[in-house]
Amino acid sequence: MARRRQIYEGKAKILYEGPEPGTLIQYFKDDATAFNAQKKGTISGKGVLNNRISEHVFTLLQGIGVPTHFIRRLNMREQLIRQVEIVPIEVVVRNVVAGSLSKRLGIEEGTPLPRTIVEYYFKDDALGDPMVTDEHILCFGWASQEELHDMADMAIRVNDFLSGLFAGIGIRLVDFKLEFGRIWDNEYSRIILADEISPDGCRLWDMVSGEKLDKDRFRRDLGGEVEAYQEVARRLGLLPEGADSTVLDLEKHRQRKGS
Ligand code: TMP
Repeated sequence: MARRRQIYEGKAKILYEGPEPGTLIQYFKDDATAFNAQKKGTISGKGVLNNRISEHVFTLLQGIGVPTHFIRRLNMREQLIRQVEIVPIEVVVRNVVAGSLSKRLGIEEGTPLPRTIVEYYFKDDALGDPMVTDEHILCFGWASQEELHDMADMAIRVNDFLSGLFAGIGIRLVDFKLEFGRIWDNEYSRIILADEISPDGCRLWDMVSGEKLDKDRFRRDLGGEVEAYQEVARRLGLLPEGADSTVLDLEKHRQRKGS
């Protein structure tokens, strides 16, 4: 098959032109970055796992009526998605104090929050994704009042659903980041969930041991990144019990054969 036209390359994914207008192919890389790409590395097999985990989560979210860009998974590293106009805001939802919240306010990591916090960050690598308020978002026109309302509403629904999903497999959903996009229908647009939901953009702690099962293993040089991501996939029922490496082995095999 002829190589598709590349539309965009981000830190962890590449977007290619899709087979039909209004679609794109989202390719999951093994590349990992942290601290606004000051730290760079690769987590071998991460892309395969994130593609599968994100497919699963987006499909479940669609099942409860959350609109998403996901159409279908195409292969080990690629999924077909709807083309959206990305809203330049990262929406972070927090249930437990960790990461930047802990640092900024000097509150111990692991402190449960009495109510869920939603934060907004302006997507701008050169500025280091600064935190902004709804006032800034409206003032600078990054999203309308209605869009902001829809995003916050969806973020809370996603949090409620995912907190339950992960609790059911012994994982505490500490915090996570969402991105949204606009789709246009003539002059009307609406907001749908975009990007990915995977251990790259979530903090997932084992409920019993407290072990980190997410990208903090990479950010904090803890090691065992791929094993942690595999553990999440395994508990979600995406890897057969006792055959944890099947998916990755399969891909290595395909690569060797050049297929
Ligand atoms: P933070 O504590 O560093 O602000 O991160 C909060 C959550 O958002 C955490 O689950 C990781 C995720 N996140 C991203 O996915 N991308 C980012 O660029 C940042 C800063 C955080």
